[in-house]
Amino acid sequence: MKPVSPLPTASEKEQAVQRMFTAIAHRYDLNNTLLSLGLHHSWKRLAVKMSEAAEGNAVLDLCTGTGDLAVLLARQVGPKGRVIGLDLNERMLAFGRRKIGRLGLSNVALMAGNAESLQFGDRTFHAVTVAFGIRNVTNVPTALAEMARVLKPGGRAVCLEFSRPTNKPLRKLYDLYSFTILPRIGRLVARDRTGVYDYLPASIRVFPDQERFKDLFSEAGFSPVTYRNLSCGIVAIHVGMKPSS
Ligand SMILES: C[S@@+](CC[C@H](N)C(=O)[O-])C[C@H]1O[C@@H](n2cnc3c(N)ncnc32)[C@H](O)[C@@H]1O
Repeated sequence: MKPVSPLPTASEKEQAVQRMFTAIAHRYDLNNTLLSLGLHHSWKRLAVKMSEAAEGNAVLDLCTGTGDLAVLLARQVGPKGRVIGLDLNERMLAFGRRKIGRLGLSNVALMAGNAESLQFGDRTFHAVTVAFGIRNVTNVPTALAEMARVLKPGGRAVCLEFSRPTNKPLRKLYDLYSFTILPRIGRLVARDRTGVYDYLPASIRVFPDQERFKDLFSEAGFSPVTYRNLSCGIVAIHVGMKPSS
């Protein structure tokens, strides 16, 4: 009888995810644009708008990667505001810091940290965002609870994430694209051998759909919780408010 392979532990999953992002960091931005046909820029702009971060606010962007949201947030909160972009992966952060340097933004800093155990005090930020990152953390409820903890009362948590297409024919087409075409383009452009572009569609498929993810937000203490489907539900933006009392 074949031996049963043990399930990966939390730290094995984290290490595997980190190996993948280290391997593709140099082509991450280009691949995002190619694979989403440029749509990720407008999805991200909308997520930042929905954070309602205002001038002078302090904002945290989790799983910031190469810092796309952090840059947009820095512009939204203006010179008196402050944005921190946090990620586990030093190589992704290095590319993000170069981008921020080129843009000459002085109100944003990228730093290493884990979304599941944040190094910030309670009630620090006016808004906390995460784009295409919550799916990669090992324990989603823990990350949501940390977002709630560091938010000021009345602050907003915003998650932009792949979700479930709302109509059946599109779902089939999308599966074909994401399980066959996307991994090939991804591998070719990033010269990747770690399997990150096979992991991507597989991780999207097991991630909670819009309604279940909304429930997870509520279970973390956010109220009200709303979401908006973009591109027919291929992605969704969930917004949860930390209650004032
Ligand atoms: C798909 S990228 C998203 C990057 C960026 N937010 C964007 O939208 O382009 C996911 C990022 O999440 C980071 N990540 C995964 N687990 C993490 C964790 N527990 N804490 C912080 N960052 C994490 C990875 O290192 C990677 O940079």
